[in-house]
Amino acid sequence: MAASGSKSCLQYLFHLAHDHLDFRLPEIKALLALRLKPFHPCGNFKEQSPFWCLDCLSEEDVCTVMARSVCAKSAFELWGRGRTHSELRTSLLNYPPDKMSPYMQKGSSYRINVYTFNKTLLFEDRIKKIDAMDYLPFEGNVSLKNPQHIFCLLEDYGTDPNNIPEHPNYIYFGRWIADGQRELIRSYSVKNRHFIGNTSMDAGLSFIMANHAMAKDSDLVFDPFVGTGSLLVACSHFGAYVCGTDIDYNTIHGKGRSSRKNQKWRGPDENIRANLRQYGKEDMYVDVMVSDASKPVWRNAALFDAIITDPPYGIRESTRRTGSHKDTIKSPDGLYAESHVPVSQAYHLSDIFTDLLSFSAHHLVLGGRLVYWLPVHRPEYCEEMVPLHPCLLLISNCEQTLSSHTSRRLITMEKIKEPEELDSLAHLSDPRFIPYQGHNAFRERYFSGLNKRSGKDDTKSDVSGK
Ligand SMILES: C[S@@+](CC[C@H](N)C(=O)[O-])C[C@H]1O[C@@H](n2cnc3c(N)ncnc32)[C@H](O)[C@@H]1O
Repeated sequence: MAASGSKSCLQYLFHLAHDHLDFRLPEIKALLALRLKPFHPCGNFKEQSPFWCLDCLSEEDVCTVMARSVCAKSAFELWGRGRTHSELRTSLLNYPPDKMSPYMQKGSSYRINVYTFNKTLLFEDRIKKIDAMDYLPFEGNVSLKNPQHIFCLLEDYGTDPNNIPEHPNYIYFGRWIADGQRELIRSYSVKNRHFIGNTSMDAGLSFIMANHAMAKDSDLVFDPFVGTGSLLVACSHFGAYVCGTDIDYNTIHGKGRSSRKNQKWRGPDENIRANLRQYGKEDMYVDVMVSDASKPVWRNAALFDAIITDPPYGIRESTRRTGSHKDTIKSPDGLYAESHVPVSQAYHLSDIFTDLLSFSAHHLVLGGRLVYWLPVHRPEYCEEMVPLHPCLLLISNCEQTLSSHTSRRLITMEKIKEPEELDSLAHLSDPRFIPYQGHNAFRERYFSGLNKRSGKDDTKSDVSGK
């Protein structure tokens, strides 16, 4: 039951937020991968639990993860744990004294917090629990306001709010190391964003996507369906240079009708560059341009460290691409004839994803990540519908429910090899390399689902994640 049998390898306790449940594991794994550290759970790991105990990390690893995570609330050096307070006591008394003593010395100051998950305790009961830990050899002075060291007793009362046990299911005690970045959800809220649109991605999900993409200092990150640039804002916060394209001239140039209540037209400086400026990240802005994601405009090279995007589903924005009245004929060098007159054509969802995966295979650096949303009709969804590409390894696939019958999946893929001619035959060995045509019916099913409920929208959260 001791928290750490070996002196060299400490255990760390992560307290996870209870929203974004499906996104937490890939986020923490990606942040550990940035430090080339494996995700190594100890004890009886349960993904849905608010507490995860991880092995084989240093305090610096933990601080680096917490400096980016929006899914983790706090992290602790785990000193003891148990199913009862008596087990916790035994575990704590087994913890190596030399690991404890630097934080308990005479002249130091400390505080003990009590945190309970799925139960609220009276103040007196919290004090009683702290007093009951008098077996710990603290020699310093208590300082509630400005302690040098903070400790926490964490009690887990399960996850069912309708069935809260009298006693906790599990108890932990540890030294607080760092808090996560939950504050970013408020400070980057789109409510206070300079330039927004109907489909601006909410701040929490944007940061989660940037973390899944492992966007980091000096990376170049690209969003081919950039809209108002919410994903670029999040990546720039983590030090990446950012660029994007969108087919919509007004969005790219910050012109046209405003999405804000009480404001008819966009103001003079409502654009993506101004959004980055708002957060002190204008230096990370490379550029954005009007371009159709279905048409190749980039030179043939691995240009981007990450591609992160929220393609159109045709619910709140159109899925259009440019085309000509005649069938658009590409010349053998892949360029379009000069007489090409752009007019709008439908851009089917299955084509959007095929193009996106193929683009990523060609333009990501090796090891670079593609992170994007795939809308699905829940009753018929199965994992085989997630598009594959021979150059891209599927890393994670997380669900965000939008309504009883629709959801979107956050897909993360990593480039594992450069494209080869033979890749075009990949569908012969696995049908998942062929675009799934069923995605094209998403829009139809989305609206038919609404109609069945006499026109009432049963969405839990809308497609922009708000
Ligand atoms: C869901 S929105 C992206 C929202 C964006 N993440 C944000 O935070 O504002 C999808 C965007 O794709 C753009 N779009 C649609 N078809 C396109 C195409 N063929 N090429 C490039 N952009 C396209 C739309 O104009 C829209 O801005």
